[in-house]
Amino acid sequence: MPGLKGPSDYLQEPPRHPSLKINAKQPFNAEPPRSALIASYVTPVDFFYKRNHGPIPVVDDIERYFVLIRGLIDNPRELFMRDIKMLPKYNVTATLQCAGNRRTAMSKVKTVKGVGWDVSAIGNGVWGGAKLADVLELVGISKLTSTTKSGGKHVEFVSIDKCKEENGGPYKASIPLSRATNPDADVVIAYEMNGEPLNRDHGYPLRVVVPGFIGARSVKWLDCINIIAEESQGFFMQKDYKMFPPSVNWDNIDWSTSRPQMDFPVQSAICSLEDVTAIKPGKVKVSGYAASGGGRGIDRVDVSVDGGKTWVEASRYQKPGAKYISDDMNSDKWAWVLFDVTVDAPQSTEIVVKAVDSAANIQPENVQEIWNLRGILNTSWHRVQVRVGHSNM
Ligand code: MTE
Repeated sequence: MPGLKGPSDYLQEPPRHPSLKINAKQPFNAEPPRSALIASYVTPVDFFYKRNHGPIPVVDDIERYFVLIRGLIDNPRELFMRDIKMLPKYNVTATLQCAGNRRTAMSKVKTVKGVGWDVSAIGNGVWGGAKLADVLELVGISKLTSTTKSGGKHVEFVSIDKCKEENGGPYKASIPLSRATNPDADVVIAYEMNGEPLNRDHGYPLRVVVPGFIGARSVKWLDCINIIAEESQGFFMQKDYKMFPPSVNWDNIDWSTSRPQMDFPVQSAICSLEDVTAIKPGKVKVSGYAASGGGRGIDRVDVSVDGGKTWVEASRYQKPGAKYISDDMNSDKWAWVLFDVTVDAPQSTEIVVKAVDSAANIQPENVQEIWNLRGILNTSWHRVQVRVGHSNM
């Protein structure tokens, strides 16, 4: 890859906020404190979770950097930054969530394999860049194409970073061509995050953002784009990020029986309280986030102060000062909502949240029902314990 520094330079860590909780040092995986997520609708770059499967590359000669588009197309092409920046620029507000978000809670049921995460492997960013649908037009693929003349049906993104799961090869993932060429799907080749050039942690110089899909499909540090007939055969498509029932274990797993996970199901979590928070008796503010996949909005967020026997509805919002209506043209369809409600907690109890999306999908009550060996998609009701005391608080 032209313009790329050698692996010894990768060892130089980018600067990071000291309050991040480091879940793994190498590769670097970290999440912000819960409270940082509800401080703003758009998550500041410093507080955006960082999820990596290999060392973080350094691209230092941006003039020579390009993305190669090739495969089942007539005219392969090298696209330099200036080619991408000449296309119309879009700012897509989209929530990125790792499929492993809330894995630590799932591993309490039974051990799972994977980096542990609390509830903060999620963030809401404004991704500035070109639409993939426009980029693909540069190589002769029209909008709303599901198959190219030579049989291309999937778009594979290959990264610069190398990971052990790929036996030292690059991280890669694919999405269907029909999604990639649909301008309304808002898939972007981003060079900006929250109005600033992408930083090294989040994919400088270019990353893909696939709104509504699990974070694993939003490939960082883009190297090439392959138009292929079958979905990517990469490890993270075929041997990871797949959903299995609780009966599947490491002895009986057959990876081919499940499709690579794409859409994210409905999710919510309380961020104003830790797992156990000591409070005074009386009013307590419960706030957090709720999000769904596929561009579905959030129709309701319910909070319970008696472990799920009775519920009150929380208010939902996105941009400050604007009323949130799910699936309305003026709402950000790919973005989370934040919620809050003030409730009475006269005694120690379990506070619970669950959300309902615009297709009336609801979160499962218990994590046991959705336990899976890789610990992905823990979207069970989120529960926190509050210990109510009368003195010294
Ligand atoms: N892209 C590359 N090249 N390498 C990676 O390890 N991790 C994926 C995805 N893209 C990854 C990647 C996963 S699992 C997630 S959840 C998101 O990036 C995380 O993006 P972030 O670190 O910008 O939050």
